[in-house]
Amino acid sequence: MAKSPKSAAPARATPARGRTAPAAAHHTDSGPAQGPAGDPADPAARQKAEVQALAAGMPSNPTKPDEHGFVNGVAPKPGVSIAPPSRLPGASTLSEANASEKTGGVAPEGGNPTVAPLDRVRVDSTGQRLTTNQGVPIADNQNSLKYGLRGPVLLEDFILREKLTHFDHERIPERIVHARGSGAHGFFECYEPLTQYTKAAPFREAGKTTPVFVRFSTVQGERGSKDTARDVRGFAVKFYTDEGNWDLVGNNIPVFFIQDAMKFPDLVHAVKPEPHHAMPQAASAHDTFWDFVSLMPESTHMLMWVMSDRAIPRSYATMQGFGVHSYRFVNEDGDSVFVKFHWSPKAGTHSLVWDEAVKISGADPDYHRRDLWERIESGNYPEWELGVQVFTEEDAERFSFDILDATKIIPEELVPVQPVGRMVLNRNPDNFFAETEQVAFCTAHVVPGIDFSNDPLLAGRIHSYVDTQISRLGGPNFHEIPINAPIAPVHNNQRDGMHRQAIHRGRVSYEPNSLAGGCPFQAGAVQGFVSVPARIAAKEEQGKVRAKPEKFADHYTQATLFYESQTPVEQAHIAAAFRFELSKLTVPAVRERMVASLRNVSEPLARQVAAGLGMRELPEPLPRALAKPAKPEVRNSPALSLLARPGEMGIRARMIALLAADGVDGALLQAQAAALADQGAAPRIVGPHVGGIAEADGGMLQADASLENEPGFLFDAVVLPQGQGAIAALATNGLALEFVKEQYRHGKTLLVPADARVLLEQAGIPWELPDGSADPGLVPGDGNGETALKAFAQAVARHRHPERETDPPRV
Ligand code: HEM
Repeated sequence: MAKSPKSAAPARATPARGRTAPAAAHHTDSGPAQGPAGDPADPAARQKAEVQALAAGMPSNPTKPDEHGFVNGVAPKPGVSIAPPSRLPGASTLSEANASEKTGGVAPEGGNPTVAPLDRVRVDSTGQRLTTNQGVPIADNQNSLKYGLRGPVLLEDFILREKLTHFDHERIPERIVHARGSGAHGFFECYEPLTQYTKAAPFREAGKTTPVFVRFSTVQGERGSKDTARDVRGFAVKFYTDEGNWDLVGNNIPVFFIQDAMKFPDLVHAVKPEPHHAMPQAASAHDTFWDFVSLMPESTHMLMWVMSDRAIPRSYATMQGFGVHSYRFVNEDGDSVFVKFHWSPKAGTHSLVWDEAVKISGADPDYHRRDLWERIESGNYPEWELGVQVFTEEDAERFSFDILDATKIIPEELVPVQPVGRMVLNRNPDNFFAETEQVAFCTAHVVPGIDFSNDPLLAGRIHSYVDTQISRLGGPNFHEIPINAPIAPVHNNQRDGMHRQAIHRGRVSYEPNSLAGGCPFQAGAVQGFVSVPARIAAKEEQGKVRAKPEKFADHYTQATLFYESQTPVEQAHIAAAFRFELSKLTVPAVRERMVASLRNVSEPLARQVAAGLGMRELPEPLPRALAKPAKPEVRNSPALSLLARPGEMGIRARMIALLAADGVDGALLQAQAAALADQGAAPRIVGPHVGGIAEADGGMLQADASLENEPGFLFDAVVLPQGQGAIAALATNGLALEFVKEQYRHGKTLLVPADARVLLEQAGIPWELPDGSADPGLVPGDGNGETALKAFAQAVARHRHPERETDPPRV
């Protein structure tokens, strides 16, 4: 018989030889009522004696009286705990010191390593052999086990079966909403202590950093749907604070469609693909959505935002984020104020235009995912400032709108946004599934210092997230999945359930207890989470009731405020979006109902949309639920315009195409690319094909992309080449002309050397704006022109040149 080769596994440690307890100690509960007496050398006897002493130290439950009455309720006292004389009474087993390579030793005192940094679960297979999930080395990963070369595959092939079984179960249900998303790690840094308002850990000290994981998402589409759908974007931030996880689960739009969680399933059923044929994917432009929202006038304010360019962001890094609901801050004294959260991107708030979004969804459905990934890989870390609107209950009473109504904003002119910190995303996940797919956000995850308002939409959310995650992530222990585990210690008496990871030491999993010295004990008001006792006055309605507060009935004032606060070009985009969406409906009555609703927002808007839909006569305005809404405090809020938020990052992370073809002035092009890269932009040389392009002076340069694989609408700006040969080649290439035409149509900046003007002429692009003035987005550039490149960069930093726009487009 051949000798088996020596195992490559590391030498095993010899198991520790544990101390064997005397036979009497081996009795368990059904054993003698009295433990073995006295021998201090016998661990079983010592354990019994120490447990007895521990239990006797708590002759009654001393905290019981404190469970009663309002005063105790708002200021719960810490639980009582007794330090055990040794670690013995807390042990599950006397044999715990018998360590092996697998068991390790005794649990560290007061520890829970399942919350340690993610390093503990990172896996690197460099230099490792292939094994099964049981760690058995796999000799052959190419063939299943057969009875003879051409014979049947054998059931005993556990290697094949394990591989297929695992594969068969690799997918988990996608999120019921927000299925399509992308995530990243980073940190939040506090500017100044915010302790006058809140004791929440992230806001305690200037400069304090708190790790975060952020997931951005679309709402309607399935997991594999396009990134650039017209849709709300999720903006969910998990703060791993040292007092537990706080999830700020927000959107890129500060209001929502509905006011009460009771309507959320209806909203989602209406907007998702229609159930009979599962179309359209990731789009609201269909009958059921508009049928629902036109019967729900409280949606109108949100519709204005969703029909604006906010719903087609340029990038996740250029979106604002909002907590939407009113929350509460609570300070050390238990005083509370209301707060609304705002994230403002340092890169400015920038959007796509609709024609561009539609085309990108075909050429690069991962446009936003790729952009986020590439910004972080290239060190252009996306950054946001967190701002808060803080206001009191008395302020709230005075407002013309109800702060519990998620369809309302608080205009910044009424309550300014105070900057309190910044968030930087500086690390991509190692594994999409383990981190981005398995992360579980929940509005119920708050920490001491943050609390809820009575917003009835928020109340439903507090329930819904954990509930859905139990089925999405397969049981109640998904908080132990590494991305979800807090960095704060976790100790409680929850046990068991599917896929439990923690191995708890000891026999106590209840509270109160004396057998574990009262541990883990209740934290009490000073350290623990206490719900704010304050309530907005319930007035005369002390009984149970299914109805909304009166101010919720004002459905149009803030829709009008939003529309009136937009610049003309933004208003034009809103009208065009309504026109597009409503033009897709097959039921004219729904279309008319929506236009009737728009008449309550703005007559000019309703007229424009109606004209675009070929409606010769305007329908009567929809009846209003509230005939005389309160006078609004603010009728125009410039802060609501996208154009009010250019950002401070210039051309950093902008995708800039440098067109090239054989005969290009390569030295110039490479110098331009280098200068743009120096400013943090992402220059890409785009040619008729990828790879080698012959330069005019005989050298070769490498194209990063082709006109075919990265069309013009994927770039923020374009540099046209110098070199007669290249220009002549591009002037007869339809893809190059499309490239330039789309750059122009979408309002982008083009750097145009005199010789390359022919490309504009061929593409039918006028040099002047419709009013005859110079087009600021067509930057003349000649020779080595550093000045031209500077002017180009300034024009690119403006993001877009909407002055060029006409409806329909001229080009
Ligand atoms: C009653 C109203 C709402 C209900 C019942 C609800 C429910 C849900 C559910 C069940 C999920 C899937 C969670 C998962 O599988 O992990 C989800 C995801 C999400 N919801 Fe809501 N939602 C509501 C309103 C809102 C509002 C108003 C916002 C914004 C302020 C919002 C933001 C999000 C975000 C950002 C996600 C994705 C989280 C992630 O990236 O994993 N939802 N929602």
